[in-house]
Amino acid sequence: MDAQTFLKGLDNIPDLPSLPNIVIKVNQMLQDQETSIKELGKIIETDQAMVSKILRLVNSAFYGFRSKIRNIPHAIIILGFNNVRNAVVSVSIIKTFSGKKHFEGFEIAEFWRHSVAVAVLSRYLSEQTRLDSPDDCFVAGLLHDIGKVVLSQHFTAFFGLVWKSVKEDGSSFYEAEKKLLPVNHAQIGAHLAKKWRFPVSLIDSITYHHKIRNTVSNLSQLVIVHTANSIANKYEVGSDTIPDSSTIDPEAKRIMFRQLETIPEWFPDIATEIESACEFFLKQE
Ligand SMILES: [Fe+2]
Ligand SMILES: [Fe+2]
Repeated sequence: MDAQTFLKGLDNIPDLPSLPNIVIKVNQMLQDQETSIKELGKIIETDQAMVSKILRLVNSAFYGFRSKIRNIPHAIIILGFNNVRNAVVSVSIIKTFSGKKHFEGFEIAEFWRHSVAVAVLSRYLSEQTRLDSPDDCFVAGLLHDIGKVVLSQHFTAFFGLVWKSVKEDGSSFYEAEKKLLPVNHAQIGAHLAKKWRFPVSLIDSITYHHKIRNTVSNLSQLVIVHTANSIANKYEVGSDTIPDSSTIDPEAKRIMFRQLETIPEWFPDIATEIESACEFFLKQE
């Protein structure tokens, strides 16, 4: 089977998760310059579970505001349109992908912990370097491996092959895919993101997160997600050396030089932030 056929097959899966309605509406509204805070607030308020999640998020230590934010319009004023949109996207996507059955042995909770770690690290790296919007980077980090979930839910046999190779010969998921499948999780995730009409920069960051391509529309975002992923995979708390950087692309190493050099200094604080983000995003209601 070649990549084309595989991705076509992906399009024909009837129960492939569709983007939740609220995300589609919020995305549409934000493309319209005229959208008011009141209108956006109204759409979000149609989903009460979402309202309480967003309010919990903006009032959590994660954002660190002193005064209590009581309603969605207030949250939009404080955080801005984009950040509220990104919070809606993050909460919806985790919910959409968490319910279904997965390949046995694939720990979905572990998967989301990794994704949230990469999201928080991406946000941190973008704040430090000021190369891209921290909240856009957060979403890109959260979604970078989403293709793995699709594989584990809908291509169990393929997933099984890769999983076996990861467990038995200790190869990385990405290396095993290269050997065994017509496509990898990055291409699958990007295909889904395209279908969902996500921004090109996000699609590119998903597609090339293992192998940087210099010609993408937003190289900064890609470099941030790529570096965050390598750090999340390799760095261990308490270690005073920088991670084995063999998995980090030379261009990313050049751009992220300062951040990579000082990991032992800043990582403990970020590890705490990752914990509180997991607590918020992954805790079942
Ligand atoms: Fe990946
Ligand atoms: Fe990853």
